[in-house]
Amino acid sequence: MMRCCIINGVNLNMLGVREPHIYGYEKLEDLEKMLTEYAVPKQMELRFFQSNFEGEIVNCLHECYKEKVDGIVINPAAFTHYSYAIADAIKAIDIPTIEVHISNIYKREAFRQHSVTASSCVGSISGFGLHGYVLALEHFLYSNSKMAHNN
Ligand code: DQA
Repeated sequence: MMRCCIINGVNLNMLGVREPHIYGYEKLEDLEKMLTEYAVPKQMELRFFQSNFEGEIVNCLHECYKEKVDGIVINPAAFTHYSYAIADAIKAIDIPTIEVHISNIYKREAFRQHSVTASSCVGSISGFGLHGYVLALEHFLYSNSKMAHNN
């Protein structure tokens, strides 16, 4: 059983309501349901966390370390662009982490085009809507099966 944590940052509790032309009409609970439906048949256990507080996200990352989760998918939202605390926490816990953005941050305002957190991550996915979270989980399945094959 592979255990992954999905972390969503500031304002992502407003998915479905917030600028739907950019982030779509699906709500956070729709995303969580979609990911659970993807994960269950693949023997993946998912935990979900959303917060509008930077420190709570740091605490959640520390919890992931204590609970030895196998992978983290994080959309730090606006924290992406300025949270050295989240960047440091991802580095500190040394758990493979994938950054996801619903929108393509590279075609948006200049301040969104830089991520201070992405360099702490395995890689990042941007611009594929909610499917980006599925792609991140798929990578964890792939790397896990490769590891099992090599052992
Ligand atoms: C976002 C992009 C960020 O720039 C923005 O602040 C968000 C969401 C995305 O998923 O596209 O809140 O991370």
